[in-house]
Amino acid sequence: MIVCHCNVLTVEDIQGAVDELLAEMPLRVITPGLVYRRLGTRGRCCGCFPLAIDVINAHIEKRLAGDDLAERRQQIVEQQRAYRDSMQQRRRIAANA
Ligand code: FES
Repeated sequence: MIVCHCNVLTVEDIQGAVDELLAEMPLRVITPGLVYRRLGTRGRCCGCFPLAIDVINAHIEKRLAGDDLAERRQQIVEQQRAYRDSMQQRRRIAANA
């Protein structure tokens, strides 16, 4: 499934980049910008970022089982959800302005 139509990035592309980033930086907050840079591109319209965050979070949560860093990664997932929510709120405010 394509997540980002501007850059033609699939769920598998994003999951692969998340795996690489977690291998290098296990406790870092993984943002769409970070993932897209890893994939050699960047956000253009950024309309895919909320979905990309959901894909990133789902993939991280899937990896949590049996992980000794599980608690810290769960905190990171919650931070990413808060980031997504604030982004969506800013878009709503901008749309209504
Ligand atoms: S759809 Fe991903 S940057 Fe536009």
